[in-house]
Amino acid sequence: MTIIKAALLGYGTVGQGVYTALKTHRQQLKKLLGAEVEIAGVLIKDPNKKRDIDPDILITTEFEDILNIPGLQVIFEAIVGEEPGFTYLNRAIEKGIQVITANKVMFARYGKVLLQKGQKYGVSVGYEATTAGGVPIIRTLKQLLQVNKINRIQGIVNGTSNFILTEMRSRGISFDEALQLAQRNGYAEEDPTSDISGKDAFCKTMILSELAFGKQPIWSDVELEGITSITEEQVQQALQLNLRYKHVADIYQENGTIKASVKPILVGESHPLFSVDGVDNAITVEASLLGRFTLTGPGAGKLPTASAMVEDLADIFTVKKRELQPSI
Ligand code: HSE
Repeated sequence: MTIIKAALLGYGTVGQGVYTALKTHRQQLKKLLGAEVEIAGVLIKDPNKKRDIDPDILITTEFEDILNIPGLQVIFEAIVGEEPGFTYLNRAIEKGIQVITANKVMFARYGKVLLQKGQKYGVSVGYEATTAGGVPIIRTLKQLLQVNKINRIQGIVNGTSNFILTEMRSRGISFDEALQLAQRNGYAEEDPTSDISGKDAFCKTMILSELAFGKQPIWSDVELEGITSITEEQVQQALQLNLRYKHVADIYQENGTIKASVKPILVGESHPLFSVDGVDNAITVEASLLGRFTLTGPGAGKLPTASAMVEDLADIFTVKKRELQPSI
């Protein structure tokens, strides 16, 4: 049986999710790819932490060790921040290793560079997991963009913020209580500031903009506001009027310029994002031929994000398998 050797960079919530998903869905992948996906190495930060990883897998704090795994074909990157993720993926691409990332901060800034580099080296760069967790928005936009033009995207792209606003409304609890719940559920980032300040949603918005419009707005021109100033009272007052606070990313093109905002807005029942609750994300797309549609699904969490990464793996290696098959 052919083996696809994989490595994980990072073993936090997302890394653990990928590890689990590759094990639990081994048979499906084997059937699809005609190969066994083997995790050959895991890059970690803290060697003293106890982890439930098979003893025959290389566990290391050194990226060089990962890069030197003989026959390594794919890297799943689930570390936080622009660096060292960017450097690691650059080096992997230069070695012809396929890369799949969930790192939105890094990808918002360097996605274009990595995609171009990937093309140069004949390497695929999967980034479905960077944006809206398990909602398959990246692959949907790629498919759609073959013919359609995108006119506008509006979406809830941060699960933690949506969860907090939903809990404040439905349970009448405070912001802090709702945030603690989000952290306990593993939705929030290690430092939840990026979730509640809107920075996490901002990065995802930039990734969507780059894909949908081929460019990003000037970052400092984007109206950016988080949910920290929304009080319990405001949420309840809105509820009396059958309105809901939603943290919404909005991107559109005006006279050739990309405009974007990432901020809380009040929406009424007729708005497509009104009923998107809990940790769900939803993205409404207005496309030239198709018109308007909304994709909704789990926007954060271990397995939904892992699902996006493993789907990327399936895409990359089914294409490779097809390329290797003799044409009739
Ligand atoms: N902290 C992020 C969120 C995780 O809440 O949406 C998924 O990117």
